[in-house]
Amino acid sequence: MKFETDAIHVGEEPERTKHGDVVSPVHLSTTFAKSTIDKMDEGFVYTRTSNPTRDNLERKLASLEGAEYALAFSSGSAAQTSLLLALLQEGDHVVAFDDLYGGTKRIFRQVLAEFGVESSYVDATDIDDVKEELRDETALVWLESPTNPLMKLADISAIADLCRERNLVLVVDNTFMSPYFQRPLKLGADVVLHSTTKYLGGHSDSLGGALVTDDKEIYEKLAFIQNAVGAVLSPFDSWLVMRGIKTLA
Ligand SMILES: Cc1ncc(COP(=O)(O)O)c(C=O)c1O
Repeated sequence: MKFETDAIHVGEEPERTKHGDVVSPVHLSTTFAKSTIDKMDEGFVYTRTSNPTRDNLERKLASLEGAEYALAFSSGSAAQTSLLLALLQEGDHVVAFDDLYGGTKRIFRQVLAEFGVESSYVDATDIDDVKEELRDETALVWLESPTNPLMKLADISAIADLCRERNLVLVVDNTFMSPYFQRPLKLGADVVLHSTTKYLGGHSDSLGGALVTDDKEIYEKLAFIQNAVGAVLSPFDSWLVMRGIKTLA
């Protein structure tokens, strides 16, 4: 299917709903009843863990990035913080592009630093700058390409090869390109991040974020943290982002 068709239909298949809805319903229920106690863990249980409307958006997001898994968060910043909590621990080091969105640097410098995670900044337009900054403690490389605000570009595939050689996780914030123009997982990244507040939402009326990956182990860690800290996108915002995505192309 073409991108435009997937953007409209994936996650909103009429045959998956009881009444044949052609547009995802907004499921506001926080809790889902079960017929017997042994069915407690089947399907949807509690909306912090998973919700049918958010699940529909997550399937749409995964499809557009050509990925297996996606999770929707209450903001791009919530997605970033959840990712860092899931994948890093005290003593780890992060190498990041020097022109990242200022709020991302604030998380590294003023939040993560308090938990013993160090970050340093390189001009990732030059892969040698990235190589030089890698340390034994480096666990993760964080790129935006293009960056916000200066629109600097990194060679995502070359940096992905470097990360694979050193067993490092490569995260690419794809907010500015959107999956319409760039699919970082196909270029070798491990996790794609979005502030859906921008092009995916598209109408400036919904704050949200997303993490997308093909890696089951990473996905399970992210889903665990998302449920544990509860930074989830609301059902109504999930519906708004789905509507926004329909005209992304
Ligand atoms: C590139 C980029 N990433 C992440 C964020 C943070 O997203 P949010 O504002 O949804 O928390 C922004 C916000 O402007 C951004 O521009």
